[in-house]
Amino acid sequence: MVIMNTFANRPDSSALLRFCGFMLFAGLVCSTKPAFAENDELKKLMLSNNCMACHMIDKRKYGPQFYEVAEKYAGDSAAVGKLAAKIKAGGTGVWGEDYMPPQPQVSDADAKTIAQMILALKPAK
Ligand code: HEC
Repeated sequence: MVIMNTFANRPDSSALLRFCGFMLFAGLVCSTKPAFAENDELKKLMLSNNCMACHMIDKRKYGPQFYEVAEKYAGDSAAVGKLAAKIKAGGTGVWGEDYMPPQPQVSDADAKTIAQMILALKPAK
């Protein structure tokens, strides 16, 4: 009887497992998607302009994470211009001793767009 039950239950429990697995996966996709969509455009620009080597949006790498940058300049109406200029010219001394080299490959338009997108970031708390 026990053996019969085990056999009889097998198809059911594996279907349940698969269902749970699917729900877990679906939940993961659904819960992470909005955050990705919000930052997709910025990530694309970071990739194509070679910022990823030193920066991440949500983690400190060689340079500051962009969530921190957004926080630092919150309420500073001149920040877009300042950051756009710094992105192209590079510099040091704001976040420590590390030096950001000039990024002449970035177009003026991209520098401004990136600065605006960084400043629009809302830290995921
Ligand atoms: C070789 C490493 C490196 C690369 C590549 C790099 N950065 Fe940086 N970035 C840094 C460092 C280091 C700092 C901190 C500079 C400082 O303290 O003034 C920084 C600072 C910044 C800041 C904050 C500036 C401030 O004054 O608060 C922004 C915004 C920024 N980077 C954007 C970018 C963007 C956009 C790109 C790609 C076009 C980029 N960085 C490429 C290393 C890098």
